[in-house]
Amino acid sequence: MSVLHVKELLIELMTASGIITAVDHVSFTLEKGETVTIIGESGSGKSTTAMGVLGLLPKDLAVMSGTIEIEGTDVLAHPRKLAAMRGRRVALIPQDPMTALSPTHTIGHQLGGAVRRGGSDRLSKREVEEKSIRLLEHVRIPSPAEQLRKFPHQLSGGMLQRVLIASALAADPVLIIADEPTSALDVTVQAGILDLLLTLQAESELALLLITHDLGVARVMSDRIKVMKDGRFVDRGQADELVDNPAVEYTRQLLDAVPRLGSWNGGDR
Ligand SMILES: Nc1ncnc2c1ncn2[C@@H]1O[C@H](COP(=O)(O)OP(=O)(O)OP(=O)(O)O)[C@@H](O)[C@H]1O
Ligand SMILES: [Mg+2]
Repeated sequence: MSVLHVKELLIELMTASGIITAVDHVSFTLEKGETVTIIGESGSGKSTTAMGVLGLLPKDLAVMSGTIEIEGTDVLAHPRKLAAMRGRRVALIPQDPMTALSPTHTIGHQLGGAVRRGGSDRLSKREVEEKSIRLLEHVRIPSPAEQLRKFPHQLSGGMLQRVLIASALAADPVLIIADEPTSALDVTVQAGILDLLLTLQAESELALLLITHDLGVARVMSDRIKVMKDGRFVDRGQADELVDNPAVEYTRQLLDAVPRLGSWNGGDR
């Protein structure tokens, strides 16, 4: 059974200028331990796909059809089941760590909330703290006990993203969705976060749905890549093959738009 199985997903959004088809009959699967990346230009429908899978699109503004199965449960037909899975079996790593946490609560309070939500309701305060410390160690945050007492503004963006990754891992999820997880961060810390994600994903056999507009990142991080344009997948394939040897003109254009990758030999241009 696939961790995630999306079939013929259609998402129409009500916008000020009318109804638009943001996601147009998209199908894909994610297996345990696999990373699939969706790449594509701005407005192609990547985030809408991710938010649709997570059930986070506003109901009155988004009309969805098709099938979304997570571990065999049809979550599109059963939104309450999806709500129960969110933050537990399925977790989101947000784009902007600086705004994702509440400024008025400590890191420990917020991470502790994620630990409790992960089915550990009966844990004592001390056990929650111990698990929080283990999670921060897991995401390579130095002096974790100290960090728990800090407020978000006292941590750098890279450290906050590590906290959010720890929160996502708190409930031992099977599926993590990361929508541009490093685009709000300083370039010097981006590689560290991506490297961490890659390591954690391999250790825990997570299924990771990654969204990026960076083909270099997609090639390094993922097993398979889907190229999205105007709500559809216009190209798909094994990450290395798709980037090193693009068969589809649109993918070639995307490649031309980014700086050359060390591993990329320039193709046949
Ligand atoms: N809240 C909204 N109101 C109106 N239109 C929206 C809204 N959110 C998304 N859209 C439209 O839906 C389409 C898909 O947008 P989406 O945000 O999914 O793209 P994206 O691929 O994530 O782009 P980006 O790379 O800029 O994040 C676009 O045409 C966008 O303008
Ligand atoms: Mg987006």
